Amino acid sequence: MRVDFLLTGAGQLVTCDPALGDGPLGLVERGAVAAGGGSVVYAGPEAALPDLDVAEDATRLDAGGRAVLPGFVDAHTHLVFAGDRADEFAARLRGVGYEEALAAGGGINRTVRETRAAGDAELAAAAARRLVEAARHGTTTLEAKSGYGLTVEDERRCLQVLASLAARFPVDVVPTFLGAHLVPAEFADDRQGYLDLLEDRMLPACAPLARFVDAFCDRGALTVGESRRVLEAGRRHGLGLKLHANELGSTGGAALAAELGCVSADHLLFCDEQEAKALAAAGTVAVLLPGTSFLLRTGRAAPVQVLRDAGVTLALGTDCNPGTCYCESMQLVVALACVHGGLTPEEAVLAATDGAARAVGRAGQAGRLAPGAACDLVVLAGRSYLDLAYHLGVNLAAQVVKAGAVVAADGVPAGALAGARP
Ligand code: NIG
Ligand code: FE
Repeated sequence: MRVDFLLTGAGQLVTCDPALGDGPLGLVERGAVAAGGGSVVYAGPEAALPDLDVAEDATRLDAGGRAVLPGFVDAHTHLVFAGDRADEFAARLRGVGYEEALAAGGGINRTVRETRAAGDAELAAAAARRLVEAARHGTTTLEAKSGYGLTVEDERRCLQVLASLAARFPVDVVPTFLGAHLVPAEFADDRQGYLDLLEDRMLPACAPLARFVDAFCDRGALTVGESRRVLEAGRRHGLGLKLHANELGSTGGAALAAELGCVSADHLLFCDEQEAKALAAAGTVAVLLPGTSFLLRTGRAAPVQVLRDAGVTLALGTDCNPGTCYCESMQLVVALACVHGGLTPEEAVLAATDGAARAVGRAGQAGRLAPGAACDLVVLAGRSYLDLAYHLGVNLAAQVVKAGAVVAADGVPAGALAGARP
């Protein structure tokens, strides 16, 4: 078997494939990973490595007894936007609610204004900087939404930025069309008119650049009926379905996501037993965004026990956006999932890898170290995946590998990531 990548010396290899090791994380002691052409051909005990034909110029890594886990999959980001809302965040620290800022013309509306006003190069450079941050922290696959353009041209422009990032950077970018992030201010008195525009002109222009369609189905954003219309229209254009559901209230989004068979329902700060059972029956993945629930400062997190009891697959994402959670680090999200979100470290790591891959249509291809999956991995600075929840505020990614090539070392972009720097 010819390989061009060989990692040995993993004190703890986290495969995220229970068939390959112990427990839900498929843990292997003293593990090794071999890959060819960017895909894993072997992941398991170093002592059981098969006979390999290792290319002379192969990448050889010695993990030196540290933990190795699959590259993170960030299942939910809003990477493309201009401007920032630090002042709005500061107001939130003083007790001004997220919905108050939105209703007063701030919030998403404000980022829409700033995104529309930004030039292409500025928009692309800002998104690229965030992508590099994510990759430096171990993210190797990332879902990213449009949604701050809300005109035909600006939504398409945001998706074009994502396509250019995908072409330039060694990170898999899964693009989602979120023209239904909000009904923009100029259509405040003609919501129907905006949905007509979205369906008749935006979707035909944007669907070729997207893999999923999403809608913000919540208080102050879109209703269940409006969201249904958008997702069904997206489905007719061949897109997979996602839904921002029940973030701000119990608004029927979770039930809609299950009814439509969405690939994922995201946020779910409000979710009762019946809704959780419906999501499980529909095979809809719950994308939890603990950075957001933490920073909304309402004291509420997604009801993980309800989701767990119903058997819903859990995923994690940063939700990286200028309003509710400006964060690119899946490491911090894993920590918050444990200390604020109520997940066990094992659940959190699985949700940040295999679960998130399922939420972005990459089940089995990303988020696990198993034969046939992409050779995307992180060598941690620590000896255990537990460090992700335990050792906060530092970048624990000692090495990040994408498709069998090192793209960051000690937090510094390397290889294709360094070459593509914004
Ligand atoms: O996922 N909920 C909708 N979208 C983002 C917030 C966007 C913003 O405030 O700019 C979210 O939390
Ligand atoms: Fe979001």
